[in-house]
Amino acid sequence: MEIHFAPLQGYTDFEYRRIHAKHCTGVDAYYTPFLRWEKGGVRDKDIKDILPENNEGIRLIPQLICSDTDEFNRLADAVQEHGYAEMDLNMGCPAPMQTKLKRGSGILPHPSLVESMMKEMARRPEVSFSAKMRLGLDTSEEWKELTDILNSSCLRHLTIHPRIGKQMYKGEVHMDSFSEMTQALHTPIIYNGDISCIEDMEKLASSFPNQHGIMIGRGLLARPTLAQEYLQGREMPEQERKDKILAMHEDMLDYCTRKYKIDSQILLHIHAFWEYQESQMERKAWKKIMKAGSMKNYLEAIRQI
Ligand SMILES: Cc1cc2nc3c(=O)[nH]c(=O)nc-3n(C[C@H](O)[C@H](O)[C@H](O)COP(=O)(O)O)c2cc1C
Repeated sequence: MEIHFAPLQGYTDFEYRRIHAKHCTGVDAYYTPFLRWEKGGVRDKDIKDILPENNEGIRLIPQLICSDTDEFNRLADAVQEHGYAEMDLNMGCPAPMQTKLKRGSGILPHPSLVESMMKEMARRPEVSFSAKMRLGLDTSEEWKELTDILNSSCLRHLTIHPRIGKQMYKGEVHMDSFSEMTQALHTPIIYNGDISCIEDMEKLASSFPNQHGIMIGRGLLARPTLAQEYLQGREMPEQERKDKILAMHEDMLDYCTRKYKIDSQILLHIHAFWEYQESQMERKAWKKIMKAGSMKNYLEAIRQI
């Protein structure tokens, strides 16, 4: 069963991925946060994120979000230029800014649009495409209209986050619908949503023994060693885990200090590294880090972990 690191805009950029892969094992593939077509091109920042020299030694799957086949082709061309033979189509983003343009989960109520995207994928046999989707935008039934289209597509795998777009990232995940999808779809399936510990992963592996893999986002940001621990079949001793986090943090702080010259900017970006770790730390220590308004207070908070 493969373990994939979910894309998280604002968190899993190339520097985070590089640092994660340097210090932790167990992740089979990383995805970029979605690339989009904006003001006549792809943002420089997004191109930098996929440059092969910024992603050495990892399996990186660039992700595209698009509202029509023109956008799809322009983005796919831009990514292919950098030598990628794998790409992922975002059919899950719930942000209204995207869904109102029929992007992300906004595409799900439009089977003909999904079909046209799948047809464009088939026109690039040199690229292996995957997609990431929700159950629907407004209802948990929308996927049913897409079954035949997905089953006759060339998708290498399909990641399913079993919520609807309207739920954003909260509320229950619909495991019954996920189970139904695994039976209706022939594409290799990757489960995604709310996995935060080894037990969650084991439960999924035993409930869905035929699934291709698991994708984890916030769970890995909270506990970067999670995939490694799962593969090793045991929790890592606390001190070892802490040492790893601190080693990752040292690399991240070094990067932020080189990139951002002003303390307030450095703090803004380094706080993202800690943001999802609240559940894994002593609450007081986490709060002190997140509330530090000066570099002096921040470094003092880190020393106290
Ligand atoms: C801040 C944030 C940014 C995200 N950015 C993306 C993105 O760029 N592309 C994408 O497919 N999903 C994105 N997601 C969704 C995650 O990839 C994932 O599907 C979601 O967090 C559920 O998985 P998890 O519970 O393991 O985190 C984002 C989620 C969050 C919270």
